[in-house]
Amino acid sequence: MFQTKIAGLGSYVPEKVVSNDDLSKVMDTNDAWIRERTGIEKRRYAEKHEQTTTTLAAEAAKVAVERAGIELTDIDCIIFATLSPDYYFPGCGVLLQRELGITGTEIPAYDIRQQCSGFLYGLQMADQFCKTGLYKNILLVGAEMHSMGLDFSTRGRGVTVIFGDGAGAVILQPTEDKSKGILTTKVHSDGTYAEKLAFLNPGTHGGYHLDKQGVDYDFGYDKSIEYGEIFMTPGMVENGHIYPQMEGQAVFKMAVQKFPEVIKEALDAVSLAVTDLDMFIPHQANLRISQFVQKRLGLSDEQVHNNIQKYGNTTAASVPIALTEAWEAGKIKEGDLVCLAAFGSGFTWGSALIRW
Ligand code: ACO
Repeated sequence: MFQTKIAGLGSYVPEKVVSNDDLSKVMDTNDAWIRERTGIEKRRYAEKHEQTTTTLAAEAAKVAVERAGIELTDIDCIIFATLSPDYYFPGCGVLLQRELGITGTEIPAYDIRQQCSGFLYGLQMADQFCKTGLYKNILLVGAEMHSMGLDFSTRGRGVTVIFGDGAGAVILQPTEDKSKGILTTKVHSDGTYAEKLAFLNPGTHGGYHLDKQGVDYDFGYDKSIEYGEIFMTPGMVENGHIYPQMEGQAVFKMAVQKFPEVIKEALDAVSLAVTDLDMFIPHQANLRISQFVQKRLGLSDEQVHNNIQKYGNTTAASVPIALTEAWEAGKIKEGDLVCLAAFGSGFTWGSALIRW
């Protein structure tokens, strides 16, 4: 069995900066509310018609490939995590393969969901593929272009102000050197809360889950839908049921419970303790959640890297962007113990421990 190492990492955020004040010009919100509740000061939006989730991913991937010292054609597997794909199908994995100009390699391209935990789920998959030696240069990316799917009216303000666009990528390789690399990964889910943070339409659900769970139809459905209405009716569009919805307080409550739990689980699995951690990179859900978890773990400000203030919540991209940024800033050094953790829609959550 091999161990898995991160051979290269990269990130990309689009140039367009959107401040809280910019959002307050199109909806009833304000800088103070957003900063106080989420810590977010601004976010980036990709250029519509010119950029997509896949093109953002390609930018990050090229940096990771260069830093790994390999060629694009050396990539032998793509794992793409996103909740904002370019198309309903096919997924972004094959689009990224094409964007990178490596269709001729005919490598496998996986698309995974798991939203905010997507990168952690992808990391566990890639780790197993490397351990067995199945692939030698796996490209794992998390990328989002939320800006095309948010409700920019006041109706959507509770969700829209939180999210931003961006991408992060890593190249994972098997190594015989057991002194560094991924020590363990833990991932979990609990579908009880599937509708607490969700983007329901378009979809085939036909109201089924909402009926069973006793969820109000105002949450996102129109029972008049007919076969062939591409999973969506004009009424659903009118009522804003084509946007993400979130019960913020339920998410907060579960997140602050599951983050410490899954980090402790990973540390226990490799007989290490919180005091052994050098750097903690939490999914950038909300600065208040990160601060709560930091306090619970007893970590100093220097041991935690947050950048939600600049980029908002970039879902599957947030962990690899923050990891890359912390590494570029020299905050992660050879031999450091790095912990990654995420929690999000599903609910799904996970953690990873990496000896750098
Ligand atoms: N600007 C101004 N006012 C707003 C905004 C906004 N952007 N959004 C909502 N409000 C209003 C509401 O309408 C409500 O007004 P009312 O009292 O007149 O009805 C008031 O502010 C309070 O709304 P709540 O939703 O109760 O606000 P809350 O204090 O719960 O804060 C928040 C919302 C920040 C989302 C909070 O619940 C939270 O931090 N939840 C954690 C979830 C999270 O961070 N998710 C991130 C994405 S998910 C993930 O990555 C895991």
